[in-house]
Amino acid sequence: MKNVFPLDSGEHLQEALIRRPRRNRRTASIREMTQETHLRPSQLAAPLFIVEGTEQIQPIPSMPDVFRYSIDEAISETAQLYEAGIRAIDLFTVVPAERKDRCGTEAVREGNLLQRSIRKIKAEIPEMCVMVDIALDPFTDHGHDGVLNESGEIVNDETLNILSEMSVLAAEAGADMIAPSDMMDGRVAFIRHALDDAGHSGVGIMSYTAKYASSFYGPFRDALESAPKFGDKKTYQMNPANIREALVECALDETEGADIILIKPAGPYLDVIAAVRKKTSLPIAAYHVSGEYSMVMAAAERGWINPDTAFLEILLGIKRAGADLILTYAAKRIAKKLSF
Ligand code: PBG
Repeated sequence: MKNVFPLDSGEHLQEALIRRPRRNRRTASIREMTQETHLRPSQLAAPLFIVEGTEQIQPIPSMPDVFRYSIDEAISETAQLYEAGIRAIDLFTVVPAERKDRCGTEAVREGNLLQRSIRKIKAEIPEMCVMVDIALDPFTDHGHDGVLNESGEIVNDETLNILSEMSVLAAEAGADMIAPSDMMDGRVAFIRHALDDAGHSGVGIMSYTAKYASSFYGPFRDALESAPKFGDKKTYQMNPANIREALVECALDETEGADIILIKPAGPYLDVIAAVRKKTSLPIAAYHVSGEYSMVMAAAERGWINPDTAFLEILLGIKRAGADLILTYAAKRIAKKLSF
């Protein structure tokens, strides 16, 4: 048989290899010049866990290098994040068990830890965009994101009022953006109207549009002690097998008034990010969740992986798929490695 690609002949090889993609990888300058996707600190947002008290910096065993901060410490952490070029934080509060109940009433108690955190952080670092996670799971004694009825179902419409009230209280405390993560139907429209009626038409909504029922939320639930006490979240969070359903959710959230569309988790759902990117002109956020973070850190602790290069690669991949903003627990360490 004739050799169609004669590697033994220099002359033929020259002819055959007119295109040599390696030329664009030859030097660092050429590689930088031809780089297609870029990551900047302002494209990263940092989730922050807040606890009662002062001078608290509590480690979370399943999330190495992530801490629960009391408000005073959260303020200095926010200042450091801003210094590192990060422009958004997303707040979550730890609710003591004795304050949790069936309906999550602590979520709408005036002066709760969430509202105090927003108010104090905004007073000290007003330029930081403060986002607030809106869902009932940290506040309910059963750990579900909505109201539980007598037959053990998470009821949709009854939950919407509480979420709206929680959102208005957050806006009053100074939140820049409301981030509903509960996956109840219609909550974006409901929250939008409630905010507008209360005079907060300037407060945005970053909707968790496609939030999957994922095994990667485990370490987060340790951090907030918010794991569901029974069952799972499959009647409201999405089936990991579905992508068309993400487009349905996206169309709804867009018409309901979402300002940013969020997909979560990020790494295992890059195809969803890419598909949603084609369907919406709104900014897309991706949540690189706790389990995705902790897997890298666990491997790093064993010396099996370099966490910085691994995070950079993962976050760049999420951007390449089409995300504009990435929520990640690695925000600070990675922002410090990036040039502005
Ligand atoms: C609350 C909420 C969860 C996460 C963000 N908001 C947990 C859940 O839905 O069970 C997970 C974030 C992470 O794992 O980093 N609804």
